[in-house]
Amino acid sequence: MRLDIITLFPEICAAPLRESIVGRACKKGVVEVRFINLRDFSRDQRGTVDDKPYGGGAGMVLMTAPLFEAVEQTRTAASRVVLLTPQGRPFTQAVAKSFAQNESHLVLVCGQYEGVDERARQALFDDEVSIGDYILTNGTIAAAVVADAVIRLLPGALGTDESVVDETFGQDGLLEYPQYTRPAEYRDMRVPEVLLSGDHERIETWRREQRIVRTAARRPDLLRQQAETER
Ligand code: ADE
Repeated sequence: MRLDIITLFPEICAAPLRESIVGRACKKGVVEVRFINLRDFSRDQRGTVDDKPYGGGAGMVLMTAPLFEAVEQTRTAASRVVLLTPQGRPFTQAVAKSFAQNESHLVLVCGQYEGVDERARQALFDDEVSIGDYILTNGTIAAAVVADAVIRLLPGALGTDESVVDETFGQDGLLEYPQYTRPAEYRDMRVPEVLLSGDHERIETWRREQRIVRTAARRPDLLRQQAETER
């Protein structure tokens, strides 16, 4: 996959993508990430890319021209151009999976300030996503989240011991079961006996039960959603 990120703050996004699993995926060539600095498309010497909103009001709005030119120079006929904005559709594991499976070129455009000029918004984007119902100072942080969630799903991104198969949201929309590692006892707290039993069938049953109990207690909305999709 090729992943282009159009932003005023490339370093905010570059640092998390350099480290750990995603950093390794980039080095292995699983994904090619490029940063495009929106300021390079400013029309003046000072690098201006925002202006006051028509009609008054607080904050600044990203101007049309730099956005149009940055996106037009970056996208191809095969690209999916996605704006990061709190007004977008919720970014979920299902959306991450669909980007990872279906897109060969993802262009993430980071919103900023009070938003983008509506003409750019209507003309340039194939999609708009929000990473949650809160306002970040900077859409670039949201782009780093989307990039991380998508890249780890690309073939070859994870090592064999870093499975994406049975994990929270992975197959059935349930939360993950509790995990333990050595020692078997720490400060009077023991690892559940079943996990030490070596009985794989019992372990599987216990884990499945734990996932359901945990999901019901913490995220009953996920169980309702699953019931609706099965209907
Ligand atoms: N920009 C600011 N807040 C955001 C959010 N929650 N999701 C995506 N982009 C954003």
